Amino acid sequence: MRITFAASECVPFSKTGGLADVVGALPGALAQLGHQVSVFVPKYRQTKLEKPTTVLRSVTVPFDDQYRFCTVLDGGIVSGVQFYFIDYPPYFDRDALYGTSLGDYRDNAERFALFSRAVLEASKILGVPDVFHCHDWQSALIPVLLRTLYAEDPAFADVRTVFTIHNIGYQGLFPSDILPLLMLPWDLFTISKLEFYGKVNFLKGALLYSDFITTVSRRYSQEIQTSEYGFGLEGVLRSRAQSIAGILNGVDYNEWCPERDSFIAAHYSVGNLSGKEKDKKDLLRAFGLDDSSELPLIGIVSRFAAQKGFDLISHVADRLAHEDLMIVALGTGDKEYEDLFRRLNKQYPKKLAVKIAYDNSLAHKIEAGADMFLMPSRYEPCGLNQIYSLRYGTVPIVRATGGLDDTIETWDPRNGKGTGFKFTEYSGEALLDTVRLALTAYKDKNSWQQLMRNGMTRDFSWTASAREYVKVYERARMTPKVTVDTTED
Ligand code: ADP
Ligand code: GLC
Repeated sequence: MRITFAASECVPFSKTGGLADVVGALPGALAQLGHQVSVFVPKYRQTKLEKPTTVLRSVTVPFDDQYRFCTVLDGGIVSGVQFYFIDYPPYFDRDALYGTSLGDYRDNAERFALFSRAVLEASKILGVPDVFHCHDWQSALIPVLLRTLYAEDPAFADVRTVFTIHNIGYQGLFPSDILPLLMLPWDLFTISKLEFYGKVNFLKGALLYSDFITTVSRRYSQEIQTSEYGFGLEGVLRSRAQSIAGILNGVDYNEWCPERDSFIAAHYSVGNLSGKEKDKKDLLRAFGLDDSSELPLIGIVSRFAAQKGFDLISHVADRLAHEDLMIVALGTGDKEYEDLFRRLNKQYPKKLAVKIAYDNSLAHKIEAGADMFLMPSRYEPCGLNQIYSLRYGTVPIVRATGGLDDTIETWDPRNGKGTGFKFTEYSGEALLDTVRLALTAYKDKNSWQQLMRNGMTRDFSWTASAREYVKVYERARMTPKVTVDTTED
């Protein structure tokens, strides 16, 4: 099968979060199964691309006011996958991918509409796939365009679309007057199509116009069909319940594995854990903490966003700091949470340290050097860090939601089964109780090692999930193209 991915970020070229890890790894796993896969991403200022060549000098993207001409760069073939970059400097040669601390870029609708349309135009020349696999709101217009402006285009007559929701909290909401600029017809602006409380909602468009929808864990696929987790799109999702699947993300163990991680001080494995102690000392030093401390060390690597449950940490932070533990946190994002960690560091300098940064090398050091990893998310579509933590013998403490619930099994000291600690109620008290439970378990060195080993031997590699995606692509190809029900208009 020929599959074309379109997404806004992709490891190793550009990354702000887990989406990039997925788009960097799943295509290779599909190629290994014998499929022909290409990936389109924007060419940002930050894109790490050595000596790209130009494959298409000028792809025309009509906008209502003027044509835009973008270039397609060839990123080469990596792990059997062809990478292409849409280059349009006025939109993508900027300080950041989506926005600055002042907020999102004001022209994000145009930026990613241009990207989406350029992918279609470029595919007409470079090869139309059997399936376009699009990810999150930034490429959500592709399914919409294919069933509207491009509906009569013979080049796309047999194409199907699969859309993956990585995070329904980000929908691509824009004022309605963007439609004419993007040359999208006004009849899309109805409640049964792209309208959402007076705005245009790109993600809603994809949920209606894609042939099949997936999300990144089974639990999250159920949660988003409820009002608590659906961010207003639960009704749309319920109307498509027959065409939704939850497929758990995998992990690229070439990148995240303590036996060969090039960022960490010492390697270790499930058979020989001794290197982990060196990694702990190295990590403590990197954060300016006492490297001879025997206290259990909790790691955090995260976008500092409300989604990740930092309000819970904030509620119980001082009580946490009085426990026999140390905490190292790495992250950037909302000022409120950056300030929280700065304040805690000032108040408890021997126990709690923070780096306000985006630092991949340090993220690896935390995975290897910490004893426990804390992820108390309010919601979590999949979550990757807890899965990395398992492989590093760094025991996850998580809230039982979405992929966190699907990947972590509660530790039971009576039978030695389980991989981590979970709590369900979204409260600081529940978090504190669960951390205390973990601290108690840590005191029994033998059973703690069993717990570490349980996690280290779990396998979340991509192959099984890639096979699930292939089934979804095949199903999308076998069913008639989706039609949008307009009875509510
Ligand atoms: P999300 O995509 O919601 O941020 P995930 O757990 O799926 O959450 O993925 C986050 C990815 O981003 C992981 O690979 C993690 O290591 C990385 N990451 C997040 N914050 C940082 C940071 N401050 N520095 C380095 N890597 C980070
Ligand atoms: C999103 C989600 C995260 C998921 C990642 C990759 O950013 O927040 O839970 O792991 O996408 O699918």
